Amino acid sequence: MSSLAIENIGLLLTNDPELGDGPLGMVENASIAFEDGLVAEIGPAGSAQADHHVDAGGRCVMPGFVDSHTHLVFAGDRAREFAARMAGEPYSAGGIRVTTDSTRAATREELTGLTEGRRREAIRAGITHTEIKSGYGLDVPSELCCLEVAAEFTDDVTFLGAHVVPSEFEGRADDYVDLVCGEMLAACAPHSRWIDVFCEVGAFDRDQSRRVLEAGREAGLGLRVHGNQLGPGPGVQLAVEMGAASVDHCTYLEDADLEALASGSTVATFLPATDFSTRQPYPDARRAIDAGVEVAVATNTNPGSSNTTAMGFCLALAVRDMGMTIDEAVRAATVGGATALGRSDIGRLTPGARADAVLLNAASHADFVYRPGVPLVDATFIAGQLCS
Ligand code: NIG
Repeated sequence: MSSLAIENIGLLLTNDPELGDGPLGMVENASIAFEDGLVAEIGPAGSAQADHHVDAGGRCVMPGFVDSHTHLVFAGDRAREFAARMAGEPYSAGGIRVTTDSTRAATREELTGLTEGRRREAIRAGITHTEIKSGYGLDVPSELCCLEVAAEFTDDVTFLGAHVVPSEFEGRADDYVDLVCGEMLAACAPHSRWIDVFCEVGAFDRDQSRRVLEAGREAGLGLRVHGNQLGPGPGVQLAVEMGAASVDHCTYLEDADLEALASGSTVATFLPATDFSTRQPYPDARRAIDAGVEVAVATNTNPGSSNTTAMGFCLALAVRDMGMTIDEAVRAATVGGATALGRSDIGRLTPGARADAVLLNAASHADFVYRPGVPLVDATFIAGQLCS
């Protein structure tokens, strides 16, 4: 494999405080070399040895975003539901069933094509690694199909059979949980790294969620939870108690939730574009960070509550409306996402890490917030290869 160097970098973010200034490990006037898909070397501008060179022209290079929460495999859209919401209707978990109908009706080839298009869009937004959940199949063959499609795009595949109770099980949630924990899990576990459950009013209660997580753990899967999205609830504390890698949404955090998070190892993953799109209040990330909670920011790309791959937009919201500093938000969407996925090989530009980087059309990462909505990613490198 050939090597590649990015030269003449005005500002390089490494996410390693030992390599540069502050938590982002910022190095000015730098170069970085990639070899065999990994970061080989970081040095002063002009020093990198490689077969091919890219001139950054004094601009910023940073780790690619690690998007630790997406639902990229789905068919159909819910634009009308969104428009009604903007006109005052509340968001409800029940909309998931609408996407389930369209997803079940799609062929595997259609789902692959749709997912590929979304993944391409995300790469252009600087997302070099993504987690992908199932959750719009909700029967054994459809969930399996969605997971197989997801696995074409990532090794962080999450089984979310417990997304909502499908209409054919209306009024029989416990029977559906039996299916999820039995035949569905047996079929899906070999294709997944993680199991997730939507612990919320309108989806699954604490006991049902616990059953799903216990069954997933028994099958060898890592744990993730959707919790405290639409109101205060048991999701966060259940996630911490069960040692989940991440609890996602965390829109409603009470003191006891913060205490649990600060005392455990579960990452609180904020999804600001979801609070934007569902008109929920923004959570107070400042309070969580000050309480010592490990945080991540992700897009939650899905057709119902967050139809965007724009991580830059998420950063702008996290800073403007959730109280993060710009550096905290960038860290949360890179190394924070990696931690939420239990990975140390991505989310940082340090020797030996996967060479996942973005070259910005900007002198600084601050422009994601300072120039919201502007497409700032000039080039995305995944495992040392230029992808867009
Ligand atoms: O993470 N909260 C549950 N699941 C998705 C929403 C899915 C939908 O509305 O289609 C989420 O927001």
